[in-house]
Amino acid sequence: MKKLFLVFAGSFIMTACMDQYNPLPYWKQFTTERQVTSEKHFALTEKGEVPPREVSGGDVDPATAKFNSLCSACHGAEGNADSPAVASMNPKPRNFHDKTWQAKVDDAHIAKVIKEGGAANGLSGTMPPWGAVISDEDVKALVAKIRAWGK
Ligand code: HEC
Repeated sequence: MKKLFLVFAGSFIMTACMDQYNPLPYWKQFTTERQVTSEKHFALTEKGEVPPREVSGGDVDPATAKFNSLCSACHGAEGNADSPAVASMNPKPRNFHDKTWQAKVDDAHIAKVIKEGGAANGLSGTMPPWGAVISDEDVKALVAKIRAWGK
């Protein structure tokens, strides 16, 4: 009986003290990648990216697909800077719905930061440079998407 109690108490203490890894928030971030790779055979794009998901109806536009795969992990799927990764960032990514920030910057600044990254523009180096990864058109589309959140 005493042994049984010890086993019970021991496992209780272990569960209570262990910080369990919860993959759910991360799992949710990579929706497109998961869906694309679990479907039929797929090929990576020329740039080695997972292609945007092809679905009939309710399809996402290319800018959203780009944002979801490259930016949402840090900036949040809706640009709110509420991704699980944000907790450990300092400074935190911008909340794109912040109207004061939207009014303060012009499109050229947003495009420049996306292309050159944070470090080259006096911002946090956590914001990577994307100029080598995405085309100027994609940058333009992303700027438009970010702008739309400020309306
Ligand atoms: C690894 C995390 C990370 C990823 C991925 C990322 N960003 Fe950022 N981004 C940041 C952080 C952190 C900042 C805040 C920098 C600061 O304020 O010093 C930031 C800032 C920005 C800004 C704001 C510049 C300003 O004036 O405040 C824009 C615009 C931006 N990111 C766009 C993007 C876009 C578009 C993508 C995807 C192509 C992207 N980011 C991917 C972390 C990231």
